[in-house]
Amino acid sequence: MESSHLENIIQGIPKAELHLHIEGSFEPELMFEIAKRNKIALKYDSIESLKKAYNFNNLQEFLDIYYAGAQVLIHEQDFFDLTWAYLKKVSSQNVVHVEVFFDPQTHTERGIAFEVVINGIYKALEKAKKELNISYKLIMSYLRHLSEEEAFKTLESSIPFKHWIDGIGLDSSELGNPPSKFARIFEASAKQGYKVVAHAGEEGPVEYIWEALDLLRVIRIDHGNRCLDDDKLVHRLVEEQIPLTLCPLSNLELKVIEKMEDHPVAEMLDKGILATIHSDDPAYFGGYMNENYYAPAKALNLTKNQLMQLAINGFKASWLGDEDKEKHISKVRSYFETVSL
Ligand code: ADE
Ligand code: ZN
Repeated sequence: MESSHLENIIQGIPKAELHLHIEGSFEPELMFEIAKRNKIALKYDSIESLKKAYNFNNLQEFLDIYYAGAQVLIHEQDFFDLTWAYLKKVSSQNVVHVEVFFDPQTHTERGIAFEVVINGIYKALEKAKKELNISYKLIMSYLRHLSEEEAFKTLESSIPFKHWIDGIGLDSSELGNPPSKFARIFEASAKQGYKVVAHAGEEGPVEYIWEALDLLRVIRIDHGNRCLDDDKLVHRLVEEQIPLTLCPLSNLELKVIEKMEDHPVAEMLDKGILATIHSDDPAYFGGYMNENYYAPAKALNLTKNQLMQLAINGFKASWLGDEDKEKHISKVRSYFETVSL
């Protein structure tokens, strides 16, 4: 199928991806290939039947399938192949900087060593830096359905690899697992020099966003859709320019929104929130960065200025140094001088 004018414009934008779970980039084709070489039986007998199961009513239904898929990852090579496939794909979409989440507990709980996981991911990121000219940061995420004690063990395991890890995240089942449960581990993580972010206000209430800010002291909120329920919170996010990493296709697939026309990104930009666009779990939600820009752009008739602002915000919200941020932002601005919408 021929791509539309809007798709072509989006393809050309230099982009930063800041909310991506590497396990969520596990495409069914690669999952079957790795399952076969590791002699692990999947619950589904074909790629088609697996894809049919990608029909979620909420976050938990997705997580159950996402964790099941990750079980076939055993060896360093598996983690390398997973990460490399993602990086090649986004490079083809003109993504030039990535900040990648990994969930060590999904693997260490099954007896896979922390170093096996991180070595594979790190080697692929380094290869992408050299061969694809993609810069990166790595974010280790705690699973919030597990205990504080488990998170402390994970922090401990990460210490020998501290120089490879830029930050800490908090993901998995949100409802019933408020940020307050992780206040001490976030404090300990920050003491190690890690930057901190957390998923909040995806399915959970606005109070979880306040807790992430006040108790976990996060510098970025992942999702944060629910902030619009609270004017005082919106004011705080705008005042402090705390970025929200939004994931439109994820929101649609997990029924955080009913239809793309309901996505809050345009309203957030109007209010001066530092909103950014990302893919979350692209293999499960039907699209990588281009598709996540395209869906709201089309449904909400985003203007050229709004698209440019989203791309600029992606770099502003990143953990790149000021000089690199400026370099990318000026490339975004020059690009938009060449296009009309
Ligand atoms: N882990 C992977 N994707 C997630 C999401 N959208 N929310 C919470 N945890 C996740
Ligand atoms: Zn996420």
